[in-house]
Amino acid sequence: MNRNAVTLLFAMIVLAFTSCQDSLKIGFSVGDFSSDRMSQEPAFFEEEIVSLGATALFEYGYGDPVQQLEQARSLIASGIEVLLVFPADGDNWAEVVEEAHEAGVKVIAYERMLTNADIDYYFSFYNEDVGRQQAQYTVARRPQGNYILLGGPVSDNNSLLFMKGQKEILQPYIENGDINILLEKHLDTWNSIDAYNEMQSFLEENEGITIDAILAANDELAGGCIMALDMLLGEWDIIITGQDASLGGLQNILDGKQSMTVYKPIANLATTAAQSAVKLARGGEITIIGGSVNNGFKDVPSVLLETVVVDETNIRETVIADGFISEDQLTFMTE
Ligand code: BGC
Repeated sequence: MNRNAVTLLFAMIVLAFTSCQDSLKIGFSVGDFSSDRMSQEPAFFEEEIVSLGATALFEYGYGDPVQQLEQARSLIASGIEVLLVFPADGDNWAEVVEEAHEAGVKVIAYERMLTNADIDYYFSFYNEDVGRQQAQYTVARRPQGNYILLGGPVSDNNSLLFMKGQKEILQPYIENGDINILLEKHLDTWNSIDAYNEMQSFLEENEGITIDAILAANDELAGGCIMALDMLLGEWDIIITGQDASLGGLQNILDGKQSMTVYKPIANLATTAAQSAVKLARGGEITIIGGSVNNGFKDVPSVLLETVVVDETNIRETVIADGFISEDQLTFMTE
């Protein structure tokens, strides 16, 4: 073969490879921005997808479940191979999932389960463990007393799992009378303002009551409770839990107001999901870690990652060591 022919052949291979890369599209439907992590995960996801030679297409539902369903339909119509869904509301997906399958598109529930639908995979964390970790941390410090359980909306299946995990740990303490549940409630949203309002009315209706612990499901809800306690009580000594290791949550921990948070290594989740989606699109198999999770329709093969308890004693060894926040951010928070 002469040099020109070799160059031509090489160019053709490159062209074929590039056009093959261009044709592989993965869709990601992000339902809401109810905590900081939702603005970080799409970036981690896209970086990984691009590094694998595929293209990521995103749609953002901004908390509107009806709009999210329509956006998912338009992603399916745009020729994706795999659709990941981080749902604003986990219900009502059965029809869209069926449409996806008819179009040859595989569907992965991301972080929050899509309930009662024939989805292909579920990628998330051991979410009941999050609740267990919050409750274990709290009972170790307040084995007796008055507790409040404040959960997220029931449209998010995780809210149920967090509370289930919490109650599993608390049950023996409740039964022997050591722990008394003052209030147990799922809020309508994950907004800190809802938690603020709830706590404000509780304090107004129960003046003088002693609260020993608030199992707030995430850092947003913890933040709302802290605002209300500061406003209405001024001085208080309550164990407050959280989740996500958000900057706000970590700041509250450093300020001595929030006791702990549960760190979810979201970069891992996003990159693992991206790698698996591309593998699936190329005809490969997904490696299952975590068995299966029943979603009301079937046992969904699942990839579940572990979560980590963070408090003021181990911020460096956990979220900083993992590169989730930087030493500079920590210094900024402690100044
Ligand atoms: C996630 C939490 C998050 C919450 C609010 C849940 O589904 O598991 O990590 O804090 O949604 O965004």
